Amino acid sequence: MQDNHQRYGVVSRLLHWGMAAIFLWQFLGMVLLIILGETPLTYFFLGTHGPLGAVLFVLIALRLGWYGRNASNRPEQEASCSGKLAGMGHKLLYVLMIIVPLLALLRSYGSGRAFAPFGIPLWGASEQKIEWMIAVGNAAHGILAWALLAMIAGHVGFALWHKMVKRDQVWSRMV
Ligand code: HEM
Ligand code: HEM
Repeated sequence: MQDNHQRYGVVSRLLHWGMAAIFLWQFLGMVLLIILGETPLTYFFLGTHGPLGAVLFVLIALRLGWYGRNASNRPEQEASCSGKLAGMGHKLLYVLMIIVPLLALLRSYGSGRAFAPFGIPLWGASEQKIEWMIAVGNAAHGILAWALLAMIAGHVGFALWHKMVKRDQVWSRMV
């Protein structure tokens, strides 16, 4: 269950791969919207964008808690420059994973519309809009989400490089 210095444990792996699958679903929907426009296939993915984003927000909170519990007890990055960059890259992924759904949830709250992901009522409708929440969400949710996708692409590229070129243990300790 717990992480150790050789590999990530079951909980970290489930969180990593489960969340990776949901992130890919979110981005696939948006990419289909850009390429195909508003088709039934697009809405198959996009129909759950808000609710799944809210699920991701809960999962990242759990993942942060688990990270804290295992901080001194997980695979370490190399002391080299690239190892330090990898550590910073992971931290930036965490920051974006929190901020991207948070901004959208703020905007949703500020819009005055009720929000009940998968039937669970988080807040009801309100007469009053909160303009700054809407403005912040409009300004930054989309652009930071694309920045997160770019970070993920780099992350996957580096993971594959470890597996295929360096052939070290970095790939297998998460896979
Ligand atoms: C971590 C989870 C999320 C990811 C990765 C994500 C990703 C994205 C992406 C890539 C876009 C396209 C931006 C563009 O049009 O250029 C987008 C738009 C949008 N998202 Fe999300 N989203 C997430 C969570 C949420 C949540 C929780 C909500 C609602 C509560 C939401 C509501 C929207 C809306 C309404 C748009 C269209 C308006 C806009 O571009 O800001 N998203 N999202
Ligand atoms: C096919 C997709 C992916 C592959 C092949 C992959 C691969 C890996 C590997 C091999 C590690 C271990 C690296 C190490 O120990 O230094 C790792 C860790 C990590 N990955 Fe991914 N990853 C993928 C998707 C994602 C996504 C979508 C995110 C976030 C949005 C993400 C965030 C992280 C983070 C933050 C870590 C550090 C460990 C942790 O705190 O959970 N990964 N990944």
